Amino acid sequence: MTRRVILTGIKPTGIPHIGNWLGAIRPGLELAQLPETQAVYFIADYHALSSVHDPAELRRMTYDVAATWLALGLDPARTLLYRQSDIPEIFELCWILSCMTTKGWMNKAHAYKAAVDRNREAGEGEDEGVNLGLYTYPILMAADILLFDSNLVPVGRDQIQHLEIARDIAQRVNHVYGPVLTLPEPLVNERVSVVPGLDGRKMSKSYGNVVPLFLPAKQLKKTLNQIVTDSTPPEAPKDPLVSSIFQMYRAVASPEQTLALDQRYRAGIGWGEAKLALFEVLDATLGPARERYNQLMADTAQLDAILADGAARARQIAQQTLGRVRQAIGVGSH
Ligand code: TRP
Repeated sequence: MTRRVILTGIKPTGIPHIGNWLGAIRPGLELAQLPETQAVYFIADYHALSSVHDPAELRRMTYDVAATWLALGLDPARTLLYRQSDIPEIFELCWILSCMTTKGWMNKAHAYKAAVDRNREAGEGEDEGVNLGLYTYPILMAADILLFDSNLVPVGRDQIQHLEIARDIAQRVNHVYGPVLTLPEPLVNERVSVVPGLDGRKMSKSYGNVVPLFLPAKQLKKTLNQIVTDSTPPEAPKDPLVSSIFQMYRAVASPEQTLALDQRYRAGIGWGEAKLALFEVLDATLGPARERYNQLMADTAQLDAILADGAARARQIAQQTLGRVRQAIGVGSH
């Protein structure tokens, strides 16, 4: 029986935060442990290039993503972990797929449409500031996925359309050349916790309300103190279910700890105490990973070696798929 391939890409833009951990990293680590599964997790640095044009930042963020996953327990021997930019086969497949993709599909892709809408609102030309990397972003993503015969692709809701495009492109190729590519399925985990950020809205880089994952303890405490609360007095009973402190706490703490905090809320708890409880559970849970993260970030040569090893193994698979595709489309020797 061949193992099923679970593949996902992480774009290295922005410091990994608690929302990323609970929404994507923690479930991703669980999936990587499943039997009969090959997890393929890569850092989509060339996707980031469509918006990040600062070389130091791009490099640092790429290391940051790698160090974060490794620190939280990803096993690089069992999983394929690599930089997208280390796999030239992706970009060759991307060109092939481009030639099978109608422009109309790209016009409908939501990241591009959002950019056009913003331009219209600002009274600019439709395509102002839209580079072709942003425009063809979904084709590169299709190449990432199809090159590894991926079966399942864990993504957030915002990426479902990209998966549909990847499937459309694969179907088009298969229609023209016969069954060459594997059709991927999105895996949207409904169970994962969407955690609120400091202002109570969903934690997201674009809202500027994130709690970075590996802040030093002192700074973590300070940041949690910025969580917005109301002015109910400490002794007043509080509803835990409407409190963002409690929601974050519950996503990390054990059921017993959660029940205990629930009772303290109902009996009346000061917001300062609730924040302290949250700090303690986060610090205890993330402390050891933070140490590993700091060690890895201080030794980028070690990170480079891990990523290079992942890339070498990934390329063996990539070359096989690409060879199959090249044969099918009629390039190279027979
Ligand atoms: N577009 C994804 C995001 O912004 C990142 C990504 C790139 C990806 N290539 C992928 C995700 C392939 C899944 C599969 O989050």
